[in-house]
Amino acid sequence: MLQVFFLPFLSPLASALWPQPVSYDHGDTVLFVQKDVTFFWYKCGAKNVGSIAEQILDQQPMMLVSDSDLDLGGDGAYRLRKTYTEPSFQEFESSFRGEGVSGDDIVDYAIKSAWRTIFKQNLYPWQFHPRGWEEPSPHTHTASISEIHVMLLTSNSPDGAKPLAGTVDESYTLELSIHGKATIAANSSTGIARGLTTLTQLFYAHSDGKHFYTPLAPVHIYDVPQFEHRGLNLDVARNWFPVSDIKRQIDALAFNKMNHLHLHITDSQSWPLEIPALPELAAKGAYRPDLVYTPNDFKELQRHAAIQGVEMITEIDMPGHTSSIWYSFPDLIAAFNKQPDWDHWAAEPPSGTLKLNSTAVYTFLEKLYADLLPRIHPYSRYFHTGGDEVNKNSYLLDDTVNSNDPTILQRLVQTFIDWTHAKVRSAGLTPIVWEEMLLEWNLTLGPDVIVQSWRSNEAVKQIVQSGHKALTGNYQSWYLDCGKGQWLDFSQSTSASSWPYTDYCAPYHNWRLMYSSDPLSGVPESLHHLVLGGEAHMWAEQTDPVNVDGMIWPRACAVAEVLWSGAKDEMGRNRSQVEASPRLGEMRERLVMKGVGAESIGMPFCTMGGGECGLG
Ligand SMILES: *[C@@H]1O[C@H](CO)[C@@H](O)[C@H](O)[C@H]1NC(C)=O
Ligand SMILES: *[C@@H]1O[C@H](CO)[C@@H](O)[C@H](O)[C@H]1NC(C)=O
Ligand SMILES: *[C@@H]1O[C@H](CO)[C@@H](O)[C@H](O)[C@H]1NC(C)=O
Ligand SMILES: *[C@@H]1O[C@H](CO)[C@@H](O)[C@H](O)[C@H]1NC(C)=O
Repeated sequence: MLQVFFLPFLSPLASALWPQPVSYDHGDTVLFVQKDVTFFWYKCGAKNVGSIAEQILDQQPMMLVSDSDLDLGGDGAYRLRKTYTEPSFQEFESSFRGEGVSGDDIVDYAIKSAWRTIFKQNLYPWQFHPRGWEEPSPHTHTASISEIHVMLLTSNSPDGAKPLAGTVDESYTLELSIHGKATIAANSSTGIARGLTTLTQLFYAHSDGKHFYTPLAPVHIYDVPQFEHRGLNLDVARNWFPVSDIKRQIDALAFNKMNHLHLHITDSQSWPLEIPALPELAAKGAYRPDLVYTPNDFKELQRHAAIQGVEMITEIDMPGHTSSIWYSFPDLIAAFNKQPDWDHWAAEPPSGTLKLNSTAVYTFLEKLYADLLPRIHPYSRYFHTGGDEVNKNSYLLDDTVNSNDPTILQRLVQTFIDWTHAKVRSAGLTPIVWEEMLLEWNLTLGPDVIVQSWRSNEAVKQIVQSGHKALTGNYQSWYLDCGKGQWLDFSQSTSASSWPYTDYCAPYHNWRLMYSSDPLSGVPESLHHLVLGGEAHMWAEQTDPVNVDGMIWPRACAVAEVLWSGAKDEMGRNRSQVEASPRLGEMRERLVMKGVGAESIGMPFCTMGGGECGLG
């Protein structure tokens, strides 16, 4: 009787998936799950034409003895059974070998990761229930989940782990029967990973720390992302971040079903990326010789991302934002670190730019690309060539140009971009640029080039009207660094007039602001297909490993949901904060359980009762 009385009241609090699936129905039956739950893994081989879930399920799964048994499927359907226990989980970082990541790697990792999330990083959800709440008891609820089936319905495309936007179908279905059988089906390994991520969010930890349950059976979910490109841009050049801190951001991105990490890996302040063909670059350009990303670090990051369905996009910003090259190759850089009037020469100190009409610069880039691009190719289809905030005055001090005349410079920048993009394409990669290359420099860009906007919705509209694919994420809504105040020091004479020392994009962009931003705002409907998605931006002037988690999370979750689920709900209305807030509160707790220092967004008082913290 008590149960019947409580459950209708509790159920809205206890169905917190993030991001919100396209369709989601659930009941209120409690099912416990045991640590020795068996994962059954089915996949279609090329011979299994047009197979559907039922056909695959008719087949008897087979015991997997070792990874080498993967190729068992003579009749076209591979059938594996895996019991994931702690020891095998501990091996999961060390099982990497060779170059690149396969669809099987993604599923294997996703199963292990789901196991870890459910049994090792799960949430005891007291904050989301009233005081005096009676949690489900493993003694009274004896029904349990014993089988989790994951089914790959069609064979993966060869480049499934490093796709061009839109070429991987990330949709999935998730069924959890009242009898304790969970089934996830998808058309790609990445879809399976997304479905397993959702599955983990159906479960909670019992307060005894030994039992795990879902109060939501039966569950029916169909899900598919609205946008193909859902990312975070992380600047690791203004401040340096150890590999482990970046990996933790990748894990959090995957948990939010984001699929791109854009690593802004060099800038004027430091060059942490080791280029073996140009060893002086990082040796002299990094803040300290040991604050670098070795080729092995770089590979590990790309792999750690790809294996979770997150494609890492490396950006070497050029021709501006390059003055850290001066420490090793001073002849290649013009207008290095002009002081005190640096703002005449750059957007931020130190000023400096690659010379625009220098054969030595092209020789340097030739070496750089020949070294770097083949190391990216196994893990990504993209390379970001930058192109923001190119300062025209700095070419007055460029001895190969000696001019700030836009028409003279425009031709040189066009040549520069044509040359670099040809190199990028010949390495099998697709170029991405910042919006200024198109909108300020009026360059002719190849039709393949993706243009990343950061300044306004109006810019996004202009990009797609020019026929290019666009990434959104403007500084007024999706910059995570805004509102911290100035990092510049003010002198006695400028101090009073600059009080209270706000930064250019203040105020702080809270999650509600980020959540209310629509990537399609102002874009004509006929051009919506050219808006691939967008990125939240973590520029790191005032962010380092100590505060990075809290700066990014859970605000980037708001961006993740807009990009996965769309800015509008199923009725076409702006998504509701009242609905989102308790779900985001739970997502925050889950991130904390996964070791991510996500900031609090509210008080338990608001989530324990439900609805008592609304306004109007
Ligand atoms: C898989 O592909 C089929 C055929 O295109 C499509 O109908 C289905 O929605 C896709 N997704 C899932 C999860 O089955
Ligand atoms: C670029 O350099 C070449 C040869 O050094 C020179 O002839 C040419 O005038 C320069 N172009 C510009 C626009 O300065
Ligand atoms: C690009 O075009 C705009 C608008 O026509 C113009 O204002 C701007 O000066 C041009 N930029 C360059 C570098 O030529
Ligand atoms: C919906 O959100 C947009 C911002 O994306 C805002 O301009 C608009 O006024 C909102 N509409 C309503 C009905 O609140």
